[in-house]
Amino acid sequence: MAQFVGILTAGGDSPGLNAAIRGVGKAAIGAYGMQIIGFRDGFRGLMQDRTVRLTGAELSGILTIGGTILGTSRDKPHKMPVGDQTMDMTNVMVETYMRHHLDALVCLGGGGTQKNAYHLSQHGLNVITLPKTIDNDVSGTDMTFGFDTALGIATEAIDRLHSTAHSHHRIIVVELMGHNAGWLALGAGLAGGADVILIPEIPYDVNVVAEAIRRRQRRGSGFSIVAVSEGAISKEIAQALSKAEAEKKANNDDEKKKAKAKAKMAKLKVALQDGTLQLSRQLEELTGLESRVTILGHLQRGGTPSAADRLLATRLGTACAEMIQKGVFGVMVAARGDGAEAVPLEQVVGRRRTVPLDHSWITAAREIGVCLGDD
Ligand code: F6P
Repeated sequence: MAQFVGILTAGGDSPGLNAAIRGVGKAAIGAYGMQIIGFRDGFRGLMQDRTVRLTGAELSGILTIGGTILGTSRDKPHKMPVGDQTMDMTNVMVETYMRHHLDALVCLGGGGTQKNAYHLSQHGLNVITLPKTIDNDVSGTDMTFGFDTALGIATEAIDRLHSTAHSHHRIIVVELMGHNAGWLALGAGLAGGADVILIPEIPYDVNVVAEAIRRRQRRGSGFSIVAVSEGAISKEIAQALSKAEAEKKANNDDEKKKAKAKAKMAKLKVALQDGTLQLSRQLEELTGLESRVTILGHLQRGGTPSAADRLLATRLGTACAEMIQKGVFGVMVAARGDGAEAVPLEQVVGRRRTVPLDHSWITAAREIGVCLGDD
């Protein structure tokens, strides 16, 4: 029977992390009599053995607080920055786990954290994970906590941008987070009534976007809201990237040519960095309308979690405690309908849950005349 349980939060923070820590902790202590040790700042805290004892007192009053009371970092066990070097510190983490006589380690995080947790489980630790990220891109779960809150913030921002865009007869290009998945931009764009929504899953043609804006203008709407995902790319860049990728693969045995293809890809990725600003400038030129850019950035990740995220984090957290009690490890506690399901980590890592092209949000957007940049 599990007695000592470690817990850490890793990767970018997201609303609902504290609700999940509370859910795991309260159920583990109250229902199963376990003791909980928190590690500070993700895997770095596990390496440095920086801990905080989580009792009922520490777990109380944190449900509504944003961020994570444990702190977080993007450090990886096998590629840990130490001084000016990067080292594999997996064994040091295994030692910390042993020193505390842990029976289980709970890792809360997104895709990267699932990978790092899987790595630790392959080194013999009893690992169990929860899926959090505002990007909603973790494979194997219906949803991640943090997404609903970010969706609400981004939708409210788009709502507010309408009146200023309308008053000035302008285009407003609003950039949403989401990494390489379009859930946030598509969801908020649809809920906020954006006229154009650009997501990584559908490379866009700027001329198609400009024509959609001009069409609105001809119909008497002199303003347009363009919701663009930070990972959205134009058709030209998408083609150039896949050409460079193919060159890299084809020249796997020729180091010189492979390096050239890699450099090409890196250059294209740099060009993508101010993609939203470039898009706005192109739209000004093509439509003759003034355009402004709003980048919502980390606002989408901050502050109190929504009710839906608190519920999701609490039910996944308590299900996690139950699984620890049953000795179920090497899994992610996934949201499945109203319940929770243990999904083996090897089925989660190395995959990204992007928006399927036949998803109902995409169909609905097309049917109400939203331009997705591709036709
Ligand atoms: O994964 C969450 C996320 O907010 C992404 O949407 C975004 O690309 C990234 O993290 C930003 O990371 P950081 O906070 O490290 O700049």
